[in-house]
Parts: sequence; structure tokens; C-alpha cells
Amino acid sequence: MQVTFCRLRTHQWCFILFNVILFHALLFGADFVEEYFLHSLPYIDMKALEIKNKARKLNTEPLRSNLSKYYVLSQSEVCKGKNIFLLSLIFSSPGNGTRRDLIRKTWGNVTSFQGHPILTLFALGMPVSVTTQKEINKESHTNNDIIEGIFLDSYENQTLKIIAMIQWAVTFCPNALFILKVDEEMFVNLPSLVDYLLNLKEHLEDIYVGRVIHQVTPNRDPQNRDFVPLSEYPEKYYPDYCSGEAFIMSQDVARMMYVVFKEVPMMVPADVFVGICAKSIGLIPIHSSRFSGKRHIRYNRCCYKFIFTSSEIANDEMPLAWKEINDGKECTLFETYYGLISCKLLTYLDSFKRFHLGTIKNNAMYFGD
Ligand SMILES: *[C@@H]1O[C@H](CO)[C@@H](O)[C@H](O)[C@H]1NC(C)=O
Ligand SMILES: *[C@@H]1O[C@H](CO)[C@@H](O)[C@H](O)[C@H]1NC(C)=O
Ligand SMILES: *[C@@H]1O[C@H](CO)[C@@H](O)[C@H](O)[C@H]1NC(C)=O
Ligand SMILES: *[C@@H]1O[C@H](CO)[C@@H](O)[C@H](O)[C@H]1NC(C)=O
Repeated sequence: MQVTFCRLRTHQWCFILFNVILFHALLFGADFVEEYFLHSLPYIDMKALEIKNKARKLNTEPLRSNLSKYYVLSQSEVCKGKNIFLLSLIFSSPGNGTRRDLIRKTWGNVTSFQGHPILTLFALGMPVSVTTQKEINKESHTNNDIIEGIFLDSYENQTLKIIAMIQWAVTFCPNALFILKVDEEMFVNLPSLVDYLLNLKEHLEDIYVGRVIHQVTPNRDPQNRDFVPLSEYPEKYYPDYCSGEAFIMSQDVARMMYVVFKEVPMMVPADVFVGICAKSIGLIPIHSSRFSGKRHIRYNRCCYKFIFTSSEIANDEMPLAWKEINDGKECTLFETYYGLISCKLLTYLDSFKRFHLGTIKNNAMYFGD
């Protein structure tokens, strides 16, 4: 083997080199192109400036004094007097107390990174049953980390949930620099996320970052539960938006969104709704491929130390992943490189498998990605 390898001719070496480059291009090319080239052009107009002005002068006093009109559980004091760097709002379903406990014990337990405070809270709507509400009250009493809006927590009400939580953030946590919206099925590497945000230090404003989705067409099938009528949103494509599983906005953006909420059509998926709000304030979503979107990233320690999120983490996988990435062992450049290649390849294979299974079962869900 050794001997034959040494005897390769120049063109054979070239061929190997070409294949190595092709392999990397296929694996990382899309991320690279998305991150550096697929930017829409900025559009700053008078309207955006006007909104900026309104957002600056936003008066949250009426909301504070009518608190019980909007929230069952409000945690109105948790932010008081604290300088919070990242406020992480975990969107959870009312009946999922076990999941919340698991998150409290794992990635949600991070309270600061390099001296930058992180506050983690759970965002809920109301449950259908009274028993569940009693359990939530008890849980909230013990942990003081539950915000519960006054609306039914249903699939159709997710846009309402986002509005209620952004409203909460601008009213009760105006000193939080960044706000993370994340779903409970996610695993989040908060330290690496904070590290990334710190590197944006030059401009702490106008930030709306996540896994950006391009050129999605609205669902026009009246039988589908995601149906969007032409009267609600007439255009062919949605504007670019950050995939809803996890995204971040800066405080000023949250305030501007709060100003434009009422002018934006509500009957679209919740993450699209945020994207349309962003567009109407002249904001361009920033893409980072370290957000997983709805993909589950196959576990690899050094890969998980690098990425920001991974979706669909099973209850038994979470403590393990959490323990390993916090064992204090650093990853060398090569280990990170190897980890990324391996978790990326396996994740591609997984989605390929799913795609095929989906074709066989004729399950349209898998085509969503
Ligand atoms: C909230 O309370 C204020 C008094 O601080 C009142 O003027 C206002 O009308 C109330 N708003 C709502 C929506 O009830
Ligand atoms: C959470 O973190 C605190 C300190 O930051 C620590 O004392 C506590 O044991 C942690 N809890 C769990 C369940 O890991
Ligand atoms: C959304 O919440 C409102 C307010 O609680 C409720 O009246 C409505 O039925 C909910 N919608 C759905 C589809 O669950
Ligand atoms: C709780 O959350 C997990 C993770 O998202 C999910 O798999 C599970 O179905 C949820 N359970 C309930 C009762 O909502």
C-alpha cells in the first residue's frame, strides 16, 4: 500500500486532491454560499425610520398597569435591576412539565458565560384542563421561571404566543440585550451562542439571526391546517425568515416588531409572521448554519461544542450530551473538523433515509425541510 501510494503520478495526485476538494465542497459548500452570498439588499425607507423612532419612544406603562389582562403568570420582577445579556425564552407546551425539568437540569441551567448573564424562562399559553393549570402554578411557585399568556396554547395560536412573549420581553425585560426564542424539543449550546453574539459586538442593534429560509411559497391547500388564503397573504413567496425552532433578535428589533405587529397578517406560520415583521422594518435576517433548524444533528461531542442548536433531542439523549460537552475537555482544531464532518455526513444520511421513508409512506411532512 505504502509503496503504490508513493508511486502515484502527478495526474493521479491531482485526481485525489480534486476528490478531497469536491468532498468538502459538497459537504460545506451550501453553508458557505448561504452564509456569505445569499444576502438580500437592504431597504431602508422613511417608514422604517419612523418605526425606529416609535420603538424608541415606546410607552409600556399601560401594559404594566393592566398586567392581569395579558398574563396568568407574569414573572414581572425577574429582570428588575439585572443587566441581562441573553434572555432565553423556551416555548413549551403547558402539559410538558417533565421536559421543562429536564431542560432546567441541563442546558437551561447556564446562568452566565464569561461574566455575561443569561436568563432562561419558559413561555406557555393556557392549558385546556384545570388540573394542568394547578400543576403549572405549583411548578411556577417552585421555579419562578414560567410566563403564561392569556390565550389557549394550541397549534393555531403560536403567532399569538410569539406576540405575547415579545410583548413581555420589551415590557418586563427591556435591559436584555438579546432575546432567544427556542422550542422545547431543542438542545441549545448557550455558551457558544453567547460567544458568537459577543463577536458581533460592533453592532448590538438590528440583529435578527437564525437559520434563514429562502423563497418559501405559502400553503394554498384549503384542506391543510397551514392553509394561507390569498386575501391574507397575496404574494408568491414569503420574505426570507429565520426558521422558528430557534432564532435571536436584539432588544431594539423586539421593540420595533412590537410596533408593527398590528399591521402584519396573523394567519401565517409564526416564524413567517416574525419574518414579515422584520421585512416591514427593513431588516435582513442574518444566516448562520450553526443553527440546525428542524434537523436533528447526530451527536458528536466536538460537533455539539461548535453548533448552536439541534432539534428533536430525546429525553434520554439530553443529559448525556450535556454532561459530555461540559466535561472540561477542549476540542482541538482537528477534532472539531473531524466532528463537523462526521455529524454533518450522518445528518445528511439521516435526512436521506427519512426522505425515502417519506416517499414510501407518501408522508408529506418530510418534504417540509
Ligand atoms: C391600562 O391602564 C391604563 C391606566 O394606567 C388605562 O389608561 C388603559 O386604558 C388601560 N389599557 C387597557 C388596554 O386596558
Ligand atoms: C445548576 O447550576 C448551579 C450553579 O450554576 C449548580 O449549583 C446546580 O447544581 C446545577 N443544577 C443541576 C441540576 O445541574
Ligand atoms: C386561541 O386563543 C384564543 C384566546 O384564548 C381562543 O379563544 C381561541 O380559541 C384559540 N384558538 C385556537 C384555534 O385554539
Ligand atoms: C414534550 O416535549 C417533548 C419534546 O419536544 C415531546 O417529544 C413530547 O411529545 C412532549 N410531550 C407533551 C405531553 O407535550
